[in-house]
Amino acid sequence: RKLFASEVNFVKGVVNMQGLPPADRPEIAFAGRSNVGKSSLINALFNRKQLARASGQPGRTQEINFFTILEALYVVDLPGYGFAKAPKAVVDKWTNFTQTYLRGRTNLQRVFLLIDSRRGVGDVDRGIMKVLDRAALNYQIVLTKADKLKKSELDKVIDDAVVAIKKNPAAHPRIMLTSAEKNIGLPELKAEIVALL
Ligand code: GTP
Ligand code: MG
Repeated sequence: RKLFASEVNFVKGVVNMQGLPPADRPEIAFAGRSNVGKSSLINALFNRKQLARASGQPGRTQEINFFTILEALYVVDLPGYGFAKAPKAVVDKWTNFTQTYLRGRTNLQRVFLLIDSRRGVGDVDRGIMKVLDRAALNYQIVLTKADKLKKSELDKVIDDAVVAIKKNPAAHPRIMLTSAEKNIGLPELKAEIVALL
C-alpha cells in the first residue's frame, strides 16, 4: 500500500559519529555518485515530494540524512561521492565519515549502490564496492534514470553490471533497474526492502 505522509519522517542530518541515532531498528542506506539520483529515488519510493532534497546541483547532500518509515526502519541518504568540484579536504572528510559509518553500523541490512544507467559502473564505483566487500556489507546495485535509455541500451548496462559484480562477494546478484521520474522498478525495489524487515 501507499504510505501516508505521517508515516515517513525526517529524523536528522548527521555529520559525525556522535550524531548517529541509536542503532535500534533495521537500516538501509542509499549510496552513489553525486547526482546519481539518491534523493530522488528515496522521495519516489516513499511518496514524499521533498523528503530528501533533490537538486541539479551535485554534492548538495553533504550530511548523512536519516529518515524513519513507520518507526520501524531507518532509511539513510548518504553523501554523494566523486564530486570533483568540492574542495578535496571536504571530500575526504565525507568519505572518511561515511566509511566509518558503513563499517561500524551493526543494524545496517543493505546498501543500495546507485549507478546512473547512462554512465554504468565506473572506477569510483568499483572503489566503493571494494570498501563494501571488505566490510562484508551486503549491497545491491540499483541502476537509476532508466527513462533516459532505450531498451537495447538498458540490456547492455545490466549485462555490464552483472559482470562488474561477478567477483564481489558481498554484492547481491540481482541488479535493480529504476526510474524515479517514470516510476520504473519502484515496486520491485520496495519488495527487496520489505524482504529485509
Ligand atoms: P547528491 O545529493 O548531490 O549526491 O545527488 P543525488 O544522488 O541525491 O541526486 P538527486 O536526486 O538530487 O538528482 C540529481 C538530478 O538527477 C536531478 O536533476 C534529478 O531531477 C535527476 N534525476 C533523478 N532521478 C531521475 C530519474 O529517474 N530520471 C531522470 N531523467 N532524472 C532523474
Ligand atoms: Mg541527494
